[in-house]
Amino acid sequence: MADTERWQPMVERASLAARQAGEILQDWRERFTVSEKSRSNLVTEADFAAQKAIHEILLEAYPDHGYLGEEGLSENASTADYVWIIDPLDGTGNYVHGFPYYCVSIGLQYQGRMVIGVIYDPTRDDLFTAAEGCGAFRNGKPLTVSGTTQLSQAMCVASLPVAGDPNHPALARFIRALPHAQTIQRLGSAELNLAYLAAGHLDAFWSSTLKPWDMAAGMVLVQEAGGTLCNLSGGPIDIHACEILACSSSRLQNELVPILSAE
Ligand code: IPD
Ligand code: CA
Ligand code: CA
Repeated sequence: MADTERWQPMVERASLAARQAGEILQDWRERFTVSEKSRSNLVTEADFAAQKAIHEILLEAYPDHGYLGEEGLSENASTADYVWIIDPLDGTGNYVHGFPYYCVSIGLQYQGRMVIGVIYDPTRDDLFTAAEGCGAFRNGKPLTVSGTTQLSQAMCVASLPVAGDPNHPALARFIRALPHAQTIQRLGSAELNLAYLAAGHLDAFWSSTLKPWDMAAGMVLVQEAGGTLCNLSGGPIDIHACEILACSSSRLQNELVPILSAE
């Protein structure tokens, strides 16, 4: 079976779930209450309501699949061949403050590799979709990375730990990279960063503090848009090991790895 035929129905189902979750987030905007899961790690009723909707929509179509979601969802996640990895609201801090940079993120893992990524930005009504071997798209239009090859020309984004320990290695890494890059931003939604990298608006993104649901969907977008993916030492990514470096070209990756991995 061709890749498109194989993955398209699942991309469509995930897109339906992501749009539905996006509507729920927007609906909750003026009335949510905020709780802290840990210091500065925020959650609202919108996170839970959006995850519930996504889970129900996917489960109805795929009762035998596994499910892993940020807000306490874990069903057959270590045993099923197909596992949906869900962040119902990536960028909760931004959402809480009305800063319009957050998204719904749904990825599908098949036998350990990421094969589908769907990211929905309800503020801009942008739906990013990608499936293994099928390309990456925003609202149906194909995406390609920028292809930027030099760090001195690169728009980079780093995600840092939420409530900062000033001695965290991520901060030292940020400072080491600063004089080499054209600019380094910190934006608050790892998945949207990866979607924008796939779309060619950012050239590099790295983090050492992500959970699987912060990167699962975006990895497929970057891969299908022609970008590169590795851990901070240049090796393969393990989505349970927190590290990611996504770049618009292998030359940029080769320039960044020694800077990011230095002690
Ligand atoms: C957060 C965002 C942020 C990253 C944090 C994540 P959340 O996700 O992806 O960019 O730096 O590590 O926790 O909590 O808003 O879903
Ligand atoms: Ca997240
Ligand atoms: Ca979240």
